[in-house]
Amino acid sequence: MYKFIFSFFVLVFVSFPLSARQPAAIASAHPLATQAGEEVLQAGGNAFDAAVAVTAALAVVEPYSSGIGGGGFWLLHRASDQFEVMLDGRERAPFNAHRDMYLDKQGNVIKDASINGPLSAGIPGVPAALEHLAKHYGLLPLSKSLQPAIRYAREGFPVDEHYQRMAKFRLSALKKSSSAAAVFLHKGQVPAMGYVVKQNNLAHTLSLIAEKGADGFYKGELADKLIRGTNKAGGIWSQKDFNEYTIIERKPIKGEYRGMKITSVAPPSSGGIALVEIMNQLAAYPLEKLSDIQQVHYIVETMRRAYRDRAEYLGDTDFVKVPVARLISKDYAAKLRTSIRPNMATPSNTLPGVKKKDGATDTTHFSIIDHQGNRVAATLSINYPFGSCFVPPGTGVLLNDEMDDFSAKPGVPNVYGLVGAEANAIQPGKRMLSSMSPTFLETKNRLAVIGTPGGSRIITMVLLGALAFHQGESAQAIVDLARYHHQYLPDSIFYEPDAFSLQQIEKMSSMGHSLKAVENTWGNMQMVIWDKKKSMMSAASDRRGLGLGRVIP
Ligand code: DON
Repeated sequence: MYKFIFSFFVLVFVSFPLSARQPAAIASAHPLATQAGEEVLQAGGNAFDAAVAVTAALAVVEPYSSGIGGGGFWLLHRASDQFEVMLDGRERAPFNAHRDMYLDKQGNVIKDASINGPLSAGIPGVPAALEHLAKHYGLLPLSKSLQPAIRYAREGFPVDEHYQRMAKFRLSALKKSSSAAAVFLHKGQVPAMGYVVKQNNLAHTLSLIAEKGADGFYKGELADKLIRGTNKAGGIWSQKDFNEYTIIERKPIKGEYRGMKITSVAPPSSGGIALVEIMNQLAAYPLEKLSDIQQVHYIVETMRRAYRDRAEYLGDTDFVKVPVARLISKDYAAKLRTSIRPNMATPSNTLPGVKKKDGATDTTHFSIIDHQGNRVAATLSINYPFGSCFVPPGTGVLLNDEMDDFSAKPGVPNVYGLVGAEANAIQPGKRMLSSMSPTFLETKNRLAVIGTPGGSRIITMVLLGALAFHQGESAQAIVDLARYHHQYLPDSIFYEPDAFSLQQIEKMSSMGHSLKAVENTWGNMQMVIWDKKKSMMSAASDRRGLGLGRVIP
């Protein structure tokens, strides 16, 4: 329904005379979330207040994607002093977690243990991030910026096709938690189109955060309910987990690709490092002068090498040593390039193996530029659709299942087929490795705020977007791009059915690539572009989703 009503808004350009104030723009995965951000900007808030409003609104109206019970990364740019920072609100492993918690007695991974139910949930970071954003960067109190989300939770939002698909996919897990089923299902079944999902308990939880900040969630009555409810159903949470949860401000990862500045997220996301590592390798090839096949070949080969390194080296830098400077250096890229052959795929199993020392989906993104030029790129997650499908009774908080992003056992793939090693093994209090890649791009004339969900494919989707942006493409063209992906293992190019012609597929197969068409999980990209030269703002929301890009004059 929303798609219908708002589709003509999806891409909007606004130019303005140089003397007037700069337009603002918001692109998010749901029209109601974009509207929440706009409402807060109009009430005198800045991009950071709008980020609070959009984050909380998405938590209500896209319950299958992100939420108060989940985490995320917010990449910020403050216009007044050009300060840039990454807010790390990633979930942490509970202190009672341990390395082999998802293995049975024989040492095999227990199916679904890290995906369904309370044991799959990390300690949520979103409530702390809301307070952090408002207190350190915003202009408005949480009691103002959380209003739209509280209203949506109380009054409800109508079920659309996407909701139905996600709920169907997770039906059996949702049925296992009576408090999840009571809210997200209707009489134990996927609700009909237009059915209004009301979340009174979540409204109350959001009101507590509006009134008391993060303490409203991590302390007192609500914390008790969350911890008791989780543990009664088999979880391992403690008040210590809540007391010690903090937002970490991290220095973004920076890179440069043929005159374009890249600013992205640091570990515990793998996004920034992998993106820069790929683009450093690509910088030596004159892509625009090469044939389509040759371009895809080089892009795939550089993806392959960066994802190998992701599997081997990347994890939470507060727990493991990651050779960040080396991985994003141009010298290292030059070394990687020496094994790339122009006409032949490199089988992944001929690259150095990942060392095993003993050892339908969702998530969401939004992009904002405000009237002052402040920027926010935020990717938020509860991991799988509807997260763990578990709601501790009386809280309205749907818990994440982000624990699956750890490597449960070295070399054993997670739900996105990603393998990992020691660097991403479970440790108490550690943050699980992520692919979420909220990113800023800046050329001489234009700047972009970009990001998408999509599990392991997030990084390569942002990469393809960055390359197209560098080539001067528009926001709408970029978010709608047909996509392809390689992640080292499995050793295949996954592609969206319309990405390649038959001829291209044959040619690439003859070069030794294996190709697999995949229908789903090609993201839901949200992008805003400020064209400095033309003084023009644009906002675009992915054709694959039902989001809304808005330019606010
Ligand atoms: O942090 C990560 O990398 C994953 N939890 C993201 C999951 C995701 O994007 C699922 N979406 N399609």
